[in-house]
Amino acid sequence: MARITAGLASSHIPALGAASDLGKTAEPYWAPAFAGYDWTRNWEAEQKPDVVILVYNDHASAFDMKIIPTFAIGCAEEFQPADEGWGPRPVPVVKGHPDLAWHIAQSCILDEFDLTIINEMDVDHGLTVPLTMMFGRPQEWPARVIPIAVNVVTYPPPTGNRCWALGEAIARAVASYPEDLNVQIWGTGGMSHQLQGPRAGLINAEWDNRFLDRLQGETQELRHIPHIEYLRETGSEGIEMVMWLIMRGALGKTTRALHRHYHVPASNTAVGHIVLEPVTETLE
Ligand code: DHB
Ligand code: FE
Repeated sequence: MARITAGLASSHIPALGAASDLGKTAEPYWAPAFAGYDWTRNWEAEQKPDVVILVYNDHASAFDMKIIPTFAIGCAEEFQPADEGWGPRPVPVVKGHPDLAWHIAQSCILDEFDLTIINEMDVDHGLTVPLTMMFGRPQEWPARVIPIAVNVVTYPPPTGNRCWALGEAIARAVASYPEDLNVQIWGTGGMSHQLQGPRAGLINAEWDNRFLDRLQGETQELRHIPHIEYLRETGSEGIEMVMWLIMRGALGKTTRALHRHYHVPASNTAVGHIVLEPVTETLE
């Protein structure tokens, strides 16, 4: 049977991808941001996940105002890195897992969670930057990737509670897939950041760290944080953090943090990263 063995969360700041692509990761400005991912790269080399369900948002690269799916699943054989204005990033093509993706689509939709099925989609920094942070610069990505794209760009984004419930539905879907697969789920985006307007550059380290604390166990409070709190406390783009709740919802009631990293600033943004392991309750 397929199993979700871990959940990871990470910022997906495009400048981190550019720093990696341009060989600048050892420069004094970037080194501390990248250092917090060394543990995870070594750990991933041992874990060797077969598939990563990668929850991210598209930033008007694959979708635009013509079509705005709230939740979409990528079922294609492969996904090309998107051209975000400077040409596509020089990273490997992202290989999908169509069988598991279609199984998740079927399971979630019959479970009353109506995902949009996408058979052709380019993937932007929201998806490729976390791959770089966790896997470095390999010739080929070491895992298959199932993209789950979430609308957090155009109002209204989904609620945190709905995201958490989607994570739970994805976990049920994976658990009913017969092949023995080591599956991870990643949530990306955040942490606090605002890229435009009078509050551009806003970072709220205290709120971010409390979110990281609460992500490990506390479920009720976290899933009911209202949109207005993300907006007020973490800036206009902090709403990306609802995507971390899809990852967290897929891990069940209790988790253990294996690794955690927080650094400011990188570009205009706070870098946050956590690795969580589900804790299965043992019957007394
Ligand atoms: C930036 C863009 C993002 O999508 C993000 O999540 C963080 C930072 C940026 O342009 O700096
Ligand atoms: Fe983003």
